[in-house]
Amino acid sequence: MSFSFGGGLNMGPRGALESHGEGDGTGRVFDRRVTLRLLGYLRPYTRQMLGAFAMMLIVSALTLAIPYLTKIVIDQYITNGDLRGLSRLALLLGGALFGIYLASSAQQYLLTWVGQRILMTLRNQLFDHLQRLSLGYHDTHIVGVTISRVMSDVGVINELLSEGLITLAGDILLLFGIVGVMVSMSPHLALFAFSVVPLMVLMTLWFSRRARIAFRQTRSSTAAVIGDLAEDLSGMRVIQAFAQEGASEERFDKVNSANRDAFVNAMSLSLTFLPGVEFLGILATAVVLWAGGRAVATETLTLGVVVAFISYVGRFFQPIQELSQLYNTLQTAMAGGERVLELLDTIPDVQDQPAAPDMPSIRGEIVLNNVSFAYRGTHTVLHNVDLHIAPGQTIALVGPTGAGKTSIANLIARFYEVTEGNVCIDGVDVRSVNQPSLRQQMGLVPQDPFLFAGAIADNIRFGCPDASEEAVIAAAKAANAHEFISAMPEGYATRVLEGGINLSLGQRQLLCIARAILADPRILILDEATASVDTITEALIQEALARLLKGRTAVVIAHRLSTITNADLICVLEGGHIVERGTHTELLALGGLYRDLYERQFMQNNGFSKASERV
Ligand code: UTP
Ligand code: MG
Repeated sequence: MSFSFGGGLNMGPRGALESHGEGDGTGRVFDRRVTLRLLGYLRPYTRQMLGAFAMMLIVSALTLAIPYLTKIVIDQYITNGDLRGLSRLALLLGGALFGIYLASSAQQYLLTWVGQRILMTLRNQLFDHLQRLSLGYHDTHIVGVTISRVMSDVGVINELLSEGLITLAGDILLLFGIVGVMVSMSPHLALFAFSVVPLMVLMTLWFSRRARIAFRQTRSSTAAVIGDLAEDLSGMRVIQAFAQEGASEERFDKVNSANRDAFVNAMSLSLTFLPGVEFLGILATAVVLWAGGRAVATETLTLGVVVAFISYVGRFFQPIQELSQLYNTLQTAMAGGERVLELLDTIPDVQDQPAAPDMPSIRGEIVLNNVSFAYRGTHTVLHNVDLHIAPGQTIALVGPTGAGKTSIANLIARFYEVTEGNVCIDGVDVRSVNQPSLRQQMGLVPQDPFLFAGAIADNIRFGCPDASEEAVIAAAKAANAHEFISAMPEGYATRVLEGGINLSLGQRQLLCIARAILADPRILILDEATASVDTITEALIQEALARLLKGRTAVVIAHRLSTITNADLICVLEGGHIVERGTHTELLALGGLYRDLYERQFMQNNGFSKASERV
């Protein structure tokens, strides 16, 4: 077993610790609650673990037997010149060595077999759980940190559960076995051999105290390097745009050298400890040689016993070395286990009642009754919002940035739970039905159109994986996306790169609209689908939307007011309140915030066109 460096990539960007569940937890080496729950993962593999345990017993017994056999070879056969006996025992020794080889291979195989299965189970469990956790969780947890839970924390748990436990048991057994055999062979010589043990204990105490701190530093500094790297990579465009490469380099250099220092520090600790143990082993051998040699000279001990002792003393320090290293594995695994269990125990903010029924087939009425809402329970972002949308109506939400438009959309799709009031669809409180049945009947074109890596066609049929090629093309045509897709090198089979980066923002939006058209939902939520695109694309999107909205209930969030002038109802939001509502004409006549926003946009647009005329 080796030292585990960098056990947890447990930090956020710039190495800043996340507010909870980070660091090395309690820093304890043994936590009963965590241990018991982790041990539960071994239960399905009891038979294999017992098999590995049996193999370990065989390895330990044979390891113990070899010096003893050597003693017999020397004392009974070599001394007496019994060559046939010598050959027999040499064969036996060879057999024992081969037995060790076979048993330890079998043990390793069983442990890897079990370990990889536990790893998979834990990762699957974490993944399933992450998919059930509400957006509220994902908003507040850094992706890199969550990835480190699923990858490295799970890895150290596996290391502990499979190899760690058996190594621990094997080492302890071997230690007691060696002491027992030595004492039974010659208590006198055993006393000499153990004369270095107090020194050994002092050294181990000294080491483990420092090692705990040093290894924790290596883990957290590795996490800092990864955090910094992850953030710089994702923000590369901004770094280059602002020519901040130098500053980034400096920052990276700082965390990187802290990481180097931590490793050098931890390594120099190990490098003083491990040779120290070896030195004590040699010292004990010398003592045994000296005292044993005298005993052989005075004929109180046989040569075979002394040779066996030298061999046992050599083996005695190996488990001690291993145990001191296991200490670090144990500590890392406890911290990792604590974090993984904490994630598995996180209760989703939005939780269905047990056996919540399916949402009945939606007609399309949406009602918000006196809804107030706060993200993470802190400051309220929506105040007493009342809204009634009849089936088939299109309503528009407008207002300054941060007014709460996306928040209303989030509540209708029940991505978050209202703090007060309720959201009803066709008179059914969205909290009383299960989430998948509700969302299956809604289409969402998000503010940030997200595409998965894969074929364009598969991205369109994301919500209906069984849709035929013809249906996909029809949806793309309705979304005005067919033309640009056909112009691509491989048409509908063209691969979208991760995050859709090989497509323009407007194209991504068109694909998201095609995706929503194909899903054919009764309720549609469009979040600023026309922001940040050129006028031609905007016109295409407009056209596609008009087709998409027909006969459905739609909530359209738009910054460009020109796009929603036809809406049945326009609600103007400001600071989480609906401050005005009415049709476009009514609101213009009212002369309030809407008119203000509209005129400013109108003037801006005119300004732009004048400017372009001048060019
Ligand atoms: P919204 O995201 O609802 O604003 O946030 P909006 O009207 O859609 O804004 P634009 O037009 O897209 O820019 C409303 C408030 O909720 C807070 C924000 O700080 C904002 O003041 N908020 C939003 C959170 O606290 N947490 C979130 O995850 C999102
Ligand atoms: Mg928004």
